[in-house]
Amino acid sequence: MSKSDSTLLLKPVLLVFGTVFAAIVVVFAINGAVAFLGGPGDAPAASAGGGEVRDLPGTWNGSKWYSEDLREQEFQYKNATAGEEVNFVPKKMNNSTLPENENRRELIREGRAIFANTSNEMPEHVGNDLSCANCHGGGDLPTTTGMVGQDIDMIPLVGTAAGYPEWTGRTQRMRDMRQRIMGCFLRSMNSPGSEEGVPAYDSREIQAMESYMVWLNKGTPSETVPYWRHIEKPEGDEKVPVSEINPVRGAELYLENCASCHGADGQGIEGQYPPLWGADSFNDGAGMGRVYTSAGFTREAMPYGAAHTFSDWEDVQDVAGFMNAHKRPHLPRQPKDWAAAGAPDEAVYYNRTQQRLGYEMNPMTKKLMLADIPIDDSEIDESVIPDNVERYDQPLRNESVDGSWETTWIRTYEDVDNSTSEDAANQSSVTAQDAVTTALATEQSTSETAS
Ligand code: HEC
Ligand code: HEC
Repeated sequence: MSKSDSTLLLKPVLLVFGTVFAAIVVVFAINGAVAFLGGPGDAPAASAGGGEVRDLPGTWNGSKWYSEDLREQEFQYKNATAGEEVNFVPKKMNNSTLPENENRRELIREGRAIFANTSNEMPEHVGNDLSCANCHGGGDLPTTTGMVGQDIDMIPLVGTAAGYPEWTGRTQRMRDMRQRIMGCFLRSMNSPGSEEGVPAYDSREIQAMESYMVWLNKGTPSETVPYWRHIEKPEGDEKVPVSEINPVRGAELYLENCASCHGADGQGIEGQYPPLWGADSFNDGAGMGRVYTSAGFTREAMPYGAAHTFSDWEDVQDVAGFMNAHKRPHLPRQPKDWAAAGAPDEAVYYNRTQQRLGYEMNPMTKKLMLADIPIDDSEIDESVIPDNVERYDQPLRNESVDGSWETTWIRTYEDVDNSTSEDAANQSSVTAQDAVTTALATEQSTSETAS
């Protein structure tokens, strides 16, 4: 599938602005041209081509460009033509974009290499077969295009650095960017399952990744949430209540739309397609393990190379339910997450969510087991899909299932003491804080963005 460069890739901001000294057009960031938005309510500029000079919205030197959340503007989030509405071309890594200091350059290059191929670059800290790039785009896989963190169809990291430090409801604290990256190791990279656990706050690797993110951020609007940031999760009518998500229908859709790359067993192909569940996947505390998050990701990013073609909200939630019905590694501190307000409904691997929704296990797992579809890494084919697929639209809370229903593996990693690194990444107050509970309940749905 060939991707057309202009729509596919994140195009770094180039701010073209006129000054009072007529005829001087200052080119202010890197490659390309950006279309400025007008004030609130104005239609977005169609194009900034042809050297058209526009006024900046608000102040610019005091860094308040784009003071509105760009997602509130008229264009849709990551729609097919978003690339034309706000123009980004991927920033190239070369002498003009890198800082002058050679040591800093080296750190940025190292950071890029780690993002692209995390399990090979840092095997002692990664407890699965994933790389940051598998979700954030642009890795070392032969199938991958673009540059790490700059693929607008994946989860781009351009403009992210400006958002730290930030609040996180899951562990109820402010975190800085290094702690955010450590959290990604803890969860998405399943570091507790590795020899040395989460890399240290001050390690060279964490500094390298921080440097790379700062480099990625240069030239993008600051103090804002650019429209390409954050997965768009289902809202309102789009949202299927967790108990009505149908992972059995999801299995059918998976075979049709995903299995050709990720395999009939969900294990992918090493070096080409990443695994979606099982021992080599993200753990049960990862953001991708939440059904609305993974549904949003699937809708924006998959099938790889043909993003936006599998976009029906119900379909992506059913597939996400199927993916997150499976066994995956267990994060030891998972029960401490969201200590005060409780895990959100979409966190189907969390006991407290399951109990609140009236289930004795992950509701997605329960439905697969009721339909006799394997939840481990066995291969499946159409013969496992029952005739009465619609039955699994129902909550089916009171049905009982036979057999083992462990959805995650409790594994002990005896040689590793992860408590120190985990605490650093997740210092959380486990005491209930009634006063903040209500505020958090709202906070979580909007600002929970953990990987
Ligand atoms: C054409 C092959 C292809 C198809 C079809 C495809 N994917 Fe992917 N998928 C990929 C590749 C390649 C990556 C990693 C991209 C990278 O590393 O840059 C990926 C990454 C992912 C990830 C994040 C990494 C991980 O392993 O957890 C998820 C989740 C995912 N795909 C889900 C799906 C779902 C659900 C479908 C079906 C709707 C699907 N994919 C269809 C190729 C594919
Ligand atoms: C299995 C998929 C997956 C992997 C692997 C992964 N992430 Fe993420 N990451 C996510 C998801 C999902 C989010 C939340 C996206 C959102 O904001 O809606 C996220 C968000 C982030 C963010 C915040 C983005 C923002 O704009 O606020 C950072 C930073 C980040 N990840 C860094 C990393 C790093 C570093 C690694 C590797 C060590 C990594 N991620 C590996 C899925 C993944």
